[in-house]
Amino acid sequence: MPSQEFDITKIRNDFPTLNQTLNGNPLVYLDSGATSQKPQSVIDATTRFYNLGNANVHRGRHTLSERATEQYEAARLKTADYFNVNAKEIVWTKGATEALNLLAHGLQRQITGEDTVLITPLEHHANIVPWQVLTQNTGATLSALPLEQNATFNIARCIDMITHTKAKVMCISQASNALGNITNLAPLIAAAKAVGTLVVVDGAQGAMHLRPNLKQLGCDFYVFSAHKMLGPTGVGGLYGRYELLNALTPYQTGGEMIDTVTLEKSSYRDAPAKFETGTPNIAGVIGFSAAIDYLSALNIEQLQRHEQAIFNYAATQLSKIDGITIYSDLNNNIGTLSFNYKSEHHYDLATLLDGFGIAVRSGHHCTQPLMHHLGVKGTVRASFAFYNTHQDVDNFINALKETIELLD
Ligand SMILES: Cc1ncc(COP(=O)(O)O)c(C=O)c1O
Repeated sequence: MPSQEFDITKIRNDFPTLNQTLNGNPLVYLDSGATSQKPQSVIDATTRFYNLGNANVHRGRHTLSERATEQYEAARLKTADYFNVNAKEIVWTKGATEALNLLAHGLQRQITGEDTVLITPLEHHANIVPWQVLTQNTGATLSALPLEQNATFNIARCIDMITHTKAKVMCISQASNALGNITNLAPLIAAAKAVGTLVVVDGAQGAMHLRPNLKQLGCDFYVFSAHKMLGPTGVGGLYGRYELLNALTPYQTGGEMIDTVTLEKSSYRDAPAKFETGTPNIAGVIGFSAAIDYLSALNIEQLQRHEQAIFNYAATQLSKIDGITIYSDLNNNIGTLSFNYKSEHHYDLATLLDGFGIAVRSGHHCTQPLMHHLGVKGTVRASFAFYNTHQDVDNFINALKETIELLD
């Protein structure tokens, strides 16, 4: 049954992309793990900026430039409020990938050949490769927390490793992009803090579904993608506890991040300016501000109740189909079902589903070590968001059954 208090019809009307047909069928968008759809208010905020407000930020004394700067900085404040941190602790980037690269590069001078960096086998490549580069450049050791056969963490085993390793940095996702599994971060962060390990949380998947209070979570750094939180593409951010953030070496250098420049040398401004050189994605940040407004106006308990109801319904229906293997943890999930059907290729399943208007992702989802761990080359991934409905699930399951008939 649809949730009572959650006005899903009204919500869906806010998202123009959702209200269309695809290949002769109503579009069922189940790829929010890749990027979320955008409400009209975000689209309007972005076009309004280009129509009436376009100017560069932090540069001009003229009215348009001052207005653009105000909006750009107001977005930082709003984002900081959403995560319960201070505005000066938020750095704008072009996405979670750039935030992780900025961080790995920025920590390089603090890492020696004696240090260890801990990751996990279920990270997105964006939370693996920058740490490989960092450890290769410094001679540090890169290790991974143990993952159980079913791709969940045994917290006691992980705590044991964290305590014994005494790593310099631990990098871990809040939720897996490939499976949707939510990481039980609190005990892992507590164990890391107890031995002085810096904690980096990849919140690309968790930021919208879990709306974390970062001060309460206690991590040192957190990265997020605006485009997975209803915002425009090309925007994301890095949160860092201020003294740690300010201690990072700049990742890129140039205009705006400097204090003084002579031909011989330069001095840098404090964070966040020190990490925001060049003209940023102003329209994107202003669009993201509207996305934060939209998300903040939704009651998080209702949103999560609706998402869980849709997810549980989809998981139950999918489990009833003979020959389906589900890889996601069904008890602890942001709303992502990763599966295969017998030995059929995930790509064929996704292509046939597309013919029914069902948008799912197939492949390794930028998590090749996780796929290796699961013993598969890839999966089909249906990732749900709060704007999905029980009808979407029915359409998806019916299309999957017809797809299977075509393949069998
Ligand atoms: C868990 C996770 N980390 C990092 C990223 C990279 O994010 P972005 O595309 O914003 O760079 C993604 C994107 O799918 C992701 O799901």
